[in-house]
Amino acid sequence: MIHASSKIDPGPDFYHSLERVLRALFEGERDPIANTANMAALVFQEMERVSWAGFYFRRGSDLVLGPFQGPPACIRIPWGEGVCGQAARSGQILRVDNVHDFPGHIACDPKTRSELVIPFWQAGSVVGVFDLDSHVPSRFLESDQTGLASCVRLLEGAIDWYGSTA
Ligand code: SME
Repeated sequence: MIHASSKIDPGPDFYHSLERVLRALFEGERDPIANTANMAALVFQEMERVSWAGFYFRRGSDLVLGPFQGPPACIRIPWGEGVCGQAARSGQILRVDNVHDFPGHIACDPKTRSELVIPFWQAGSVVGVFDLDSHVPSRFLESDQTGLASCVRLLEGAIDWYGSTA
């Protein structure tokens, strides 16, 4: 049984522990909304200095807001626009140390300074992104990128995708 209030040790094993808790949360459930909602909640609860953590899903030519934690956010992001749209279109992770230096950054929260966007895939296509924001410049390190990318790979294997990407 997972105790939602328990804090994971933020030490060197942080991402292994995070993955272990995610595996337990995904156990026996393959619904994309349920599993992305719990992943956003867990990451937001456990990571220091993160102001927003959540998902956008591909809907036609837009990314549309999915489960998240943090303040209300932009609802639709055109494919290829903003940090999220560019990450989705390229299929590459984008780690931005200072969003003011990123051409086309979409400011949902004017206090955001750094951002990490990880595309997630189903059946060979990008179907969404996992987005993290921080009010702290350069908050996200390469180790965060690697650790969270592993968590996204875990998620990809733990859902039966039903969303339209047409
Ligand atoms: N800053 C993002 C928009 C999404 S919010 O940060 C939640 C972007 O430029 O795509």
